[in-house]
Amino acid sequence: MEKDHYILGIDTSCDDTSAAVVVNGTSIIANVVSNQNDIHKKYGGIVPEIASRKHLEMIWPVVDEALIMSGVNISEISAIAVCHGPGLIGSLLIGVCFAKSLAFIHRIPLLAVNHLEGHIFSGFLEPVIPDFPFIALVVSGGHTSIYRVNEPGDYKELGRTIDDAAGEAFDKVAKLLALGYPGGPFIDALSKKGNPGLIPFPRPYMNKGLDFSFSGLKTAVLSYLKKEPTSKKEDIAASFQSAVIDVLVRKTIIAAKKEKAESILLAGGVASNTLLRNQMQEFAKKEKIRTFLLSPELCTDNAAMIASAGFYHYQRKNFADLDLNPQSCMPLSGKK
Ligand code: KG4
Ligand code: ZN
Repeated sequence: MEKDHYILGIDTSCDDTSAAVVVNGTSIIANVVSNQNDIHKKYGGIVPEIASRKHLEMIWPVVDEALIMSGVNISEISAIAVCHGPGLIGSLLIGVCFAKSLAFIHRIPLLAVNHLEGHIFSGFLEPVIPDFPFIALVVSGGHTSIYRVNEPGDYKELGRTIDDAAGEAFDKVAKLLALGYPGGPFIDALSKKGNPGLIPFPRPYMNKGLDFSFSGLKTAVLSYLKKEPTSKKEDIAASFQSAVIDVLVRKTIIAAKKEKAESILLAGGVASNTLLRNQMQEFAKKEKIRTFLLSPELCTDNAAMIASAGFYHYQRKNFADLDLNPQSCMPLSGKK
């Protein structure tokens, strides 16, 4: 029988400090996430300097907790997979420096994982996985891109946002409506009580290929609020959400049809949005395309997805050196 491989994953790319232990790239035995929402909510967005200081405080306890929960001793870890970008540079630095130190002290191989590749690998941690090639919509607070996934490690970016990410638009509109942070879940919940057809917010870039643009939509909400200050928040939230989701769904389906892909995977924080999940399933079904949804804890940032992608690099002996440095900008395309 083949020996099991335990990968320790670490992600500190944004405002979540996370560590996980995953067996053979598919089974999670520990996935610890310490989020900083309570700290950043008073600013209505992430303050990078505060985020990196908090990572520094939390990285040891979080890694320790993941190892204890997994019941695996550090000496049994086959490799340490760390996210080295894209993300906030000060945040990434904490995870990368910590992973390098741990790898050096315990003489464990190091693996460098792109955060976006990690989001796609979240799909391999669920019991049923999509057939290749599939289309992945990675939609979060920092990213909005459509990929054709040919096989693990082989990606083609088909479209991306030219300005704000969809999650960023949710967070900014929630701030305008004084709903709370992060805004996505608040808008999702409030929209259920509103009329999505009441305000005809623009569907930006709808007929312009597979790229997205969301910053104008946020401005449209602001202008509407100035003009109609007494309008119901529920209707604004529902109408805004419907505009964002319309564009995301339409373009993802177009991409799947163009690439003759039979499956769509939704990944990233916004992939837990109720309307996105329902509409993607409904429209994809009409085109005989299967939609793969992740459990909410695998949509948002987590280190299990980094460990899962890391296992793929481990199998290919694609190890990182101890002079690994993080990078804030790191597009995902081509063969890894
Ligand atoms: O993937 P993630 O945890 O971090 C990044 O890599 O950015 O995504 C966080 C983003 C936030 O913008 C948050 O508002 C959004 O995901 N989000 C949602 C929902 N849950 C989280 N957006 C819309 N609807 C939701 N239910
Ligand atoms: Zn992310």
